[in-house]
Amino acid sequence: MKVDPSQRSRPIGVFDSGLGGLTVAAELAELLPGEDIVYLGDSARVPYGIKSLETVRRFAREDAKFLLGMDPKLLVVACNTASAAAIDTLRDLSGVSVVDVIAPGSAEAITCGEGPVGAVATEATIRSGAYQATLESLAPGREVHLAACPLLVPIVEEGRAEDDPIVTHVLCDYLRDMLRVRPTSLILGCTHYPLLSRAIGKLMGPDTTLISSGAAAARDVARVLEACDAKNPQDAPGQLDCYTTDNPERFAKLGERFGRRKLTSVHYVGTDELELNFS
Ligand code: DGL
Repeated sequence: MKVDPSQRSRPIGVFDSGLGGLTVAAELAELLPGEDIVYLGDSARVPYGIKSLETVRRFAREDAKFLLGMDPKLLVVACNTASAAAIDTLRDLSGVSVVDVIAPGSAEAITCGEGPVGAVATEATIRSGAYQATLESLAPGREVHLAACPLLVPIVEEGRAEDDPIVTHVLCDYLRDMLRVRPTSLILGCTHYPLLSRAIGKLMGPDTTLISSGAAAARDVARVLEACDAKNPQDAPGQLDCYTTDNPERFAKLGERFGRRKLTSVHYVGTDELELNFS
């Protein structure tokens, strides 16, 4: 993966189906505090995780195209579902390097030991087979266990506490098979799941290492920028400019919890504009 060093002052483009990818933006900001980030959250069309892969692919192309119009030096597909459905298409249409969230998390997960690897994600991500295929290509023959956890996205968006009995109940149900397997590592393969990492960690116990796919992707971005000498040289903290396809006030308010910072620059962009931009 290459980033043109003459582009080092350009922002990093990040997109997601909605607010969740702000967890990835937060990881990027922590590792690379001088980088400007331009973020698109497709809140009008969230969730992607229950839609067909064709629909997600179309949305992801439109999201990427919008951000590419801002001339980023690199594009991060923060959404696991979009990464699963569209990464090859996105790489084909982008003139810049594209970092997804599935390969980096998978690469970290297999280094935790020789035992089984687990991944939890949205229904569409699991259905796509992307985690299975990526893990199989990185560690042929390794035991892989997957679980779709569709209720976790609305639970996190609703702001339920990690020790809320509803959270415990839902996790126990989704992770029942995973608990029998006790994988060496468990990939949190969805933007929202890091907000439940304490609850998931408590349930899985100390022998399972949790891997946040977003944090792994941020480490990948840092490695790529470092290797290409393309880090932003500015001393000032980087800006986070957000665009949402739905209500910007709501995005700014709810987004703080995901992005771990105040969101002071949130703009509206209509899905009709994204669609037009693509045609
Ligand atoms: N961002 C999605 C993901 O990481 C979760 C939310 C959704 O279903 O759109 O898969």
